Amino acid sequence: MNNGKPLVGVVYEVYIPNPKAADKELSEETVEEMAREVYEAVLALGYPAVLIPVKDSFLGFLRRIQEVKPDVVVNLCESFDGTTRLESNVAGVYELLRVSFTGNVMRSLSLCQDKFRAKAVLSAHGLPTPPACLVHSVDEVPPLKFPVICKPNGEDASMGITPRSVARDEAGLRTALASIRDRFGLPVLAEEFIDGREFNVAVMAEGAEARALPVSEIDFSALPKDQPRIISYEAKWFETSELYIKTPPVCPADIEDDIRLRLQNHALEAFRVLGCRDYARVDFRMDKKGRLFILEVNPNPDVSLNAGYARALKAAGIEYGDFWKLMIRNAQNRNGKS
Ligand SMILES: Nc1ncnc2c1ncn2[C@@H]1O[C@H](COP(=O)(O)OP(=O)(O)O)[C@@H](O)[C@H]1O
Ligand SMILES: [Mg+2]
Repeated sequence: MNNGKPLVGVVYEVYIPNPKAADKELSEETVEEMAREVYEAVLALGYPAVLIPVKDSFLGFLRRIQEVKPDVVVNLCESFDGTTRLESNVAGVYELLRVSFTGNVMRSLSLCQDKFRAKAVLSAHGLPTPPACLVHSVDEVPPLKFPVICKPNGEDASMGITPRSVARDEAGLRTALASIRDRFGLPVLAEEFIDGREFNVAVMAEGAEARALPVSEIDFSALPKDQPRIISYEAKWFETSELYIKTPPVCPADIEDDIRLRLQNHALEAFRVLGCRDYARVDFRMDKKGRLFILEVNPNPDVSLNAGYARALKAAGIEYGDFWKLMIRNAQNRNGKS
């Protein structure tokens, strides 16, 4: 501690170019920018801060944490050495070291990253999520109603999602399954496609008290009619592409109070049953009958200034720096316990 101010280590993974996954570059490079934004916000609070990049060496990372001895780690790692599956292990390191850190614990990160398993937990708690199957072969036809969307079960940031991920029939399904299998392996998550509006709800907790922030909606109205209404990888990351430009988020969403309340209550409940703390973002779709479905819970969402979480903070009248102040205080209060 420096005059009562915690030394904050902002930990993030450095993008290592990988020719086999060149399209991952944009989502990964963003992590570095995000780390700088958070670092500057923490410095502006008057806290001493150190940027701690994580590369491919675990021992190098451990050594750096032991050298810096941060009072609090702001954990922004979304993978380790380019592997999304190891995202949760990084949080596990702080837990073993008993270092206080912001964001979610290993167990929730790992659970939410397995979309199918997280959906089972949501369903067991009575929360709605689209019917889905884990498919173990491209020749399998899961007992789902078409259209069906195929996605990797353990990725995020719309990785692997293209307009062709939405299958209208068995032939389309085989193509969609094969494309995910070739890139991410089996099994593939096949899910009933919910044609309708898409919402995101950011959740923020002060200690054990979680609150849902204003709802955000994707405006699909400008999207050409022949395009499925989804946030594909291109729509999420290629800022100059038509798909990106024609799927802008709107926050706060223009929705009736009863839909807003249902979304926010579901988001809070999902946050709770998946064992989340500090912050997370919940993705929803609503079908034509007004039924809501949780697509997934993101316990480590993009917290860059220009991304959805910060937009929701702004809509709630919460300064970005004040958000980090609160998260750092949460971490300090836990005193290394996770
Ligand atoms: N069952 C579904 N029905 C409709 N759209 C979906 C469905 N699943 C995914 N999508 C679309 O694909 C996008 C990414 O899917 P999501 O499950 O949120 O995974 P990711 O972790 O990649 O964000 C969503 O934002 C949505 O546009
Ligand atoms: Mg999502």
